[in-house]
Amino acid sequence: MTNQISLAQGREYLAIPGPSVIPDAVLQAMHRPSPNIYDGELIDMMPGLTRDLRRVARTKHNVAIYIANGHGTWEAALSNVIAPGEVVLAPASGLFTHGWAEMAEGIGAKVQLIDFGTSSAWDFDRIAGALRADTAHQIKAVLAVHVDTSSSIRNDIPTLRALLNELDHPALLMADCIASVGCDRYEMDEWGVDVTVTACQKGLMTPAGVGFVFFNDKAQAKRAAMPRVSQYWDWQRRVNPEVFYQYFNGTAPTHHLYGLRAALDMIHAEGLESVWTRHERLAAAIWAACEIWAQGGALQLNVADRTHRSHAVTALRLTDGLGTPLRVFTESQLGLTLGIGLGMEDWDGCFRLGHMGHVNGQMVMAMLGGVETALAALDIPRGKGALEAAASALASAG
Ligand SMILES: Cc1ncc(COP(=O)(O)O)c(C=O)c1O
Repeated sequence: MTNQISLAQGREYLAIPGPSVIPDAVLQAMHRPSPNIYDGELIDMMPGLTRDLRRVARTKHNVAIYIANGHGTWEAALSNVIAPGEVVLAPASGLFTHGWAEMAEGIGAKVQLIDFGTSSAWDFDRIAGALRADTAHQIKAVLAVHVDTSSSIRNDIPTLRALLNELDHPALLMADCIASVGCDRYEMDEWGVDVTVTACQKGLMTPAGVGFVFFNDKAQAKRAAMPRVSQYWDWQRRVNPEVFYQYFNGTAPTHHLYGLRAALDMIHAEGLESVWTRHERLAAAIWAACEIWAQGGALQLNVADRTHRSHAVTALRLTDGLGTPLRVFTESQLGLTLGIGLGMEDWDGCFRLGHMGHVNGQMVMAMLGGVETALAALDIPRGKGALEAAASALASAG
């Protein structure tokens, strides 16, 4: 009888698009006894933390912190500015806009959804059509997912802002940057975004559990005019509070704050612009490999146009439902976990590569090597030379 040998023993690699790899510095910062929540270091840390959070979202405006995942920040943001019966416009290029739109419906909003499918970025003619038709300005907000992590589409937020301005439409521009902050260029103030939501478990490299809502004066004016806002979600209570516990409307997420502090220190030590460039260059190497594999006819990048691809996640399609078997192989045989075909019509035929946050060149090469090995093991037709193409892209990126 032959022993079944797996090559998965050793340090595993979670290459999914969030939660992302947690740096040792973040883990170590969290590994400590419970701190005093009434006095001392943790409380003193807050002004610097909120300042550095605003720096990663590129805003001088407000940030409210919630003990919540991304779904929590969706509800928090909506609860502050959308009253029951008000209309929101949701241009969808993947699962997550649908999720945010459903949440809006859940709090009583009327949703106007424009579905661009799972492989196309926003079509501004269609969005313009919806905004132009809204002569009474019933649409109070546009729910804009910057990077849809399911499809890996990166949408063009500045053009959406320009369109709202051109049509003189007063709707709030609300952006979900959960998969882009700390990965892809995102400029809240320069791009004219009124509300930004993000969470800590992707580009911010911290275990899931803390989320952020950034908002400007226009959004605050809408908040002030709301008939009511649920006390827990109310962002007003959380910004510049007089006492520490009001930041979180209760007990602070103590250890997450230390982890987040360490993560923000890493980002700002590297430089946010350099973080974006690193993601761009690593993504270019990944795409170079994928484009070679695609020559075999079985694999396809989900987003054809490079200008609409996220630099933090890459969704791929495989023929014959081979995405799931490929993932099962890399995890069970190599210790490499890849992302599922979330939100795609052919779930089993798709998989995703996560390359967000604490990721460097050797990790990307290992991940691509894992995919190459799985393609070989499953005898999936593929172009030859993918790893060489990735190596050349990295070699010339320095
Ligand atoms: C773009 C985007 N929005 C929202 C969410 C939801 O976040 P969470 O799973 O933390 O609730 C995710 C999660 O992956 C996401 O990628």
